Amino acid sequence: MENLKKYFIYTMGCQMNLYDSEVLAGYLESMGFIPASVEEEADILVLNTCAVRQKAEEKVFSKLGMWRAHKESKPKMLMILWGCMVQQKGKAAYIRKRYPYIDLIGGPHALGRFPELFEEATIARTPVIAVEEGEGRSRVFSVKREDDVFAWVPISYGCNNFCSYCIVPYVRGPEKSRPSAEIISEIESLADSGYREITLLGQNVNSYGKDLSDTPDFADLLRKITPIQGLLRIRYMTSHPRDFTVKMIQTVAQEPKICEHFHLPLQAGSNRILALMNRGYTREAYLELVSKIREIVPSCSITTDFIVGFPGEKEKDFRLTMDMLEKVRFDAAFTFIYSPREGTKAAEMPGQLPAAEKRARLILLNKRQAEISQEINAQLLGTKQEILVEGKSKTDPNYYSGRTRTNKIIHFQCDNAHAGSLVTVGINEAKAWTLRGEYISADTDKIFIFKK
Ligand code: SAH
Ligand code: SF4
Ligand code: F3S
Repeated sequence: MENLKKYFIYTMGCQMNLYDSEVLAGYLESMGFIPASVEEEADILVLNTCAVRQKAEEKVFSKLGMWRAHKESKPKMLMILWGCMVQQKGKAAYIRKRYPYIDLIGGPHALGRFPELFEEATIARTPVIAVEEGEGRSRVFSVKREDDVFAWVPISYGCNNFCSYCIVPYVRGPEKSRPSAEIISEIESLADSGYREITLLGQNVNSYGKDLSDTPDFADLLRKITPIQGLLRIRYMTSHPRDFTVKMIQTVAQEPKICEHFHLPLQAGSNRILALMNRGYTREAYLELVSKIREIVPSCSITTDFIVGFPGEKEKDFRLTMDMLEKVRFDAAFTFIYSPREGTKAAEMPGQLPAAEKRARLILLNKRQAEISQEINAQLLGTKQEILVEGKSKTDPNYYSGRTRTNKIIHFQCDNAHAGSLVTVGINEAKAWTLRGEYISADTDKIFIFKK
């Protein structure tokens, strides 16, 4: 262990995995390791995997192939394969056999046991595997956060929904809410250390607390968080359209710190496909939810996720998905080609579509959505927007970037803007995915109130 100094974590998948990587980094740093800036420099390599689509798995295997060379040039290097992919049935044994140079294989359930597993792997120098279900995530004591203004805060783990296409309930286990007192004390300490925006995480945040007694529902939890001093913005993801209540919409409307961005994954526009997906709502119910949201929070943005090419999706079903684009006019959509996941119901369903057909539908969907996103963004031209500054733009160092309350990325020119401060920007260029603008002023009144 004394020869190991630097670690590098490569993270795939969703925000939950990004957070888990911050926990892994926290553990490693508390053991005295420091971050490496590139993979090649690392003594400890961690790959935090995702299994949501086949593509993610393919990426893991290609990465593992490349890691073989690292291990050959630096045999003492410790290699860790973590996350959702290895939690799948039979996967850990397969990896152990095909990639014997991996020292530790651990699933999300074992996160709380990482330090002892790590110790075991360094001493034993034989592969350690920890993928038993229901080990529980014991309380995490240190998190090494990537950012110092924006933070993820999990409020629940796992998922009970079993959408028929989805692997997440199998790899992350049943839904477990975190006690509200624990969540609030974590957010209070984040705000005290200068964090300005938090994103509450759960596979279905709107069912928060249902598994615990004497626990607030999600809307009440939000009301307990909003008074925390120093916080400027609160976001949350993901919301299941079936569980999004009017009480929630009113909470967003009444609480100024909660951003008026609604991410509501629709997945498909046909009731027949929605039923096969086990989503628990119809297109009519979704449209009603959207109209209630727009009535109560008129200045909001609405984004979604779509899956195209679900088994049995006929041309007329796909047309109903396209029709939902016109009816809702989403600000943006994350679109995916259906990927069969072993062990899920949909993978066994008849009517699996050929890849070319799925791809053709995705192209049509993306093309129309890009036009709509562009049209909606064009309405922002000439308006002033409140931006929470993230820092210098990654693509153009002459620009700073930040997000509107509605979660749109804006690049703007400014001599000196501080990450975590609120500024007003005038929008002068609008594309489908990005907006550009000019700095107008700093919202110093808000910063002054919250400055410690
Ligand atoms: N709990 C969240 C996130 C789930 S994964 C939710 O319910 O929205 C994020 C997105 O990946 C899903 O919304 C879905 O659109 C997509 N997805 C999940 N499984 C998939 C699969 N087998 N094939 C293609 N896309 C999938
Ligand atoms: Fe998967 Fe559905 Fe759970 Fe989201 S709600 S994680 S799509 S099973
Ligand atoms: Fe997230 Fe992928 Fe796991 S989407 S929950 S990292 S399967």
